[in-house]
Amino acid sequence: MKPLHILLACLVAIAACTNNGTPVYLDPSKSVEERVADALPRLSIEEKVAMTHAQSKFSSRGVPRLGIPEVWCTDGPHGIRPEVLWDDWSQAGWSNDSCTAFPALSCLAATWDKEMSLLFGRSIGQEARYRKKDVLLGPGVNICRTPLGGRSFEYMGEDPYLAGQMVVPYVKGVQENGVAACVKHFAVNNQEVRRTATNSVVDERTLYEIYLPAFEAAVKEGGAWAIMGSYNLWNGEFNCHNHRLLNDILKGEWGFDGVVISDWGGCRDDDDAITGGLDMEFGTWTDGLHGAPSDSYNNYHLANPYLQRIADGRAGTRELDDKASRILRLIFRTSMASERHYGSFNSPEHYEAARRIAAAGTVLLKNDGVLPLSIPDGGKLVVIGENAIKKMVVGGGSSNLKTKYEITPLEALQEAFPNAQVVWERGYVGSTETSFDRVDTGEDLSESRPAGQLLADAIKATEGADAVIFIGGLNKSANQDNEGTDKLDITLPYGQDAIIETLAGVVPHLIVVNISGSPVAMPWADKVDAVVQGWYGGSETGHALADVLTGAVNPSGKLPFTLPRSLADGPLKTERQYPGIQEEGEQWWQEYYDEGVFVGYRWYSSKDIPVCFPFGHGLSYTKFEYGPAKASKSTLSCAGSFGVNEGTETVLKVSTDVRNSGERDGAEVVQLYLMPPAGDVERPVRELKGFEKLTLNAGQTGRAVMELPRRAFARFDADSHRWVVDSGTWTILVGSSSEDIRSTAEIKIN
Ligand code: BGC
Repeated sequence: MKPLHILLACLVAIAACTNNGTPVYLDPSKSVEERVADALPRLSIEEKVAMTHAQSKFSSRGVPRLGIPEVWCTDGPHGIRPEVLWDDWSQAGWSNDSCTAFPALSCLAATWDKEMSLLFGRSIGQEARYRKKDVLLGPGVNICRTPLGGRSFEYMGEDPYLAGQMVVPYVKGVQENGVAACVKHFAVNNQEVRRTATNSVVDERTLYEIYLPAFEAAVKEGGAWAIMGSYNLWNGEFNCHNHRLLNDILKGEWGFDGVVISDWGGCRDDDDAITGGLDMEFGTWTDGLHGAPSDSYNNYHLANPYLQRIADGRAGTRELDDKASRILRLIFRTSMASERHYGSFNSPEHYEAARRIAAAGTVLLKNDGVLPLSIPDGGKLVVIGENAIKKMVVGGGSSNLKTKYEITPLEALQEAFPNAQVVWERGYVGSTETSFDRVDTGEDLSESRPAGQLLADAIKATEGADAVIFIGGLNKSANQDNEGTDKLDITLPYGQDAIIETLAGVVPHLIVVNISGSPVAMPWADKVDAVVQGWYGGSETGHALADVLTGAVNPSGKLPFTLPRSLADGPLKTERQYPGIQEEGEQWWQEYYDEGVFVGYRWYSSKDIPVCFPFGHGLSYTKFEYGPAKASKSTLSCAGSFGVNEGTETVLKVSTDVRNSGERDGAEVVQLYLMPPAGDVERPVRELKGFEKLTLNAGQTGRAVMELPRRAFARFDADSHRWVVDSGTWTILVGSSSEDIRSTAEIKIN
């Protein structure tokens, strides 16, 4: 530095000092923006570039000279990932990183309860904070487009409105701890097959109506401080530096002021990394750019190549200042925040929260009077199936966790019926894996009996039983609920369908619990007496399931996705739709979202295709009677078009009285769907636009009031890039699921 420059820098520093001599950026009483403005000019180009890329598997550099700390990230989204080595994915071998494992996000979505989402976010945020993490890599809100999607268990179902409502409290809960939520994977990343080499061909209407709204809610309503770009391409550009998605939509239209973080290895190009809206590059393959020696973070796209481009004039510093400002903002919001809690880890409150959320998400799909369980003292309960004993917090990919304990369903049922004989038989062998990423459950799942013997032993065990429960489903092995692969089918693996059918023919009343994070087919549903959808419930998974089976908790979960009868019934009919095709002359696989907005129940209800259990379905041990749906107006004058950020004002209120007419206290999710008038543009016959979970004591009546903004009625018009409300007579459908509509009302829109 020349003497004149040093003098100038000193003058700037003195001018920037607050009264007590503390530089503004270090003064927690100053606003985040004042601190950013003060800090930015103090940084050299090299320091700014150093902040934009990783220095280890999960951290990026700070500016030690100025006391600006490193940024530390962690997976996400179900608990705090165990520590890995600096430059190696191996476990660091800490003995104090066993966390509370919270339920998978598909379970959280199934609660349809925003308070549960806040509790989840708050609790996991406290755990992240305790572990000194600044960014939690989650939650995920990619839409469950196909039942085969390997990561559906980490997402919030098939409906953009549900996912949008559920993501907001999670983000707020995490961030109130001074930890950024990094909402992932932006965007249209709906499959694991070839996730780094597939171009999602999605039209803008479908993008705006189905695949963006949950992210939009996380940003605009949740105030998310970070977003993770996805591995795939949209519109021919990789999403970690996709100009349209990141610069135009996320940062432009939605005004996102946080950081865009690449998925690990998702940054693919030196120039686009600079200009495409990316702020922080992480995990460019584990060794730093394909086969380079270890610890080669300086080879990242946003490292030496960036410095080189600035030095030789191919790149300016405008983008760099923007990236550095955003990273500083992140730091002042998190590790240098004025008010920051210590957090807490493995607290009894967190385990209690995990149990409550997992129980609230458990869905009673069918009950012919056999649940809740009642086993007399000295009676016999027979439990069959591998998922009754298999610990599943371990596995699944980057959401793999090491937890202090995991209660299995069998252990919890034994605890719930201490005076009964609770017998377990495996029935089949699924996966004997007990470790993932060198985290081991400590179980021994080896089995020497052949399949025929296993089934015969299971049948024999049922003799004299007071109740028989089959607990099976999926697990987190490859080609099941697992990152990096998709399922191969929606039928249950390991011959479970045949085993269930056999058992149903032998025992008088069979109860089936399916544990999965994604939709499976249930061809035997008519032949059994009760069906429960359980999830990967985390540390307290067994307790939560037993709470529902025994009636300690009255089930109130609702399906966040459709359970179709078969894969063939769904909207993805061709290879070009899924898993994509390789066209001549194209470097990347092309995947055409030809079904447009007809995803999940939007497809089944519009095409009148019967399903096994519909979206939004879930029973209770009590009964709910619905009164008529009442709209606050019968006519609205809100037809016409409006801009992408408009239409948030409430234009209509719909209310319904609901009475708990049974004998138990319980909770019901009242759902509101809109049916548009017939028009030139094809639209789904119903779309979820409101819901409210009412907790009602036996005999109590409550009122659900749902507010509809103008946007609820709108479709996206790609040509004008505006939302459009069509005039005509709309039907408001209020009910207990997307197919169980209890009352309707009409509204005329002029
Ligand atoms: C996953 C992300 C995860 C990251 C870091 C990636 O492979 O797609 O969801 O946060 O790894 O573990």
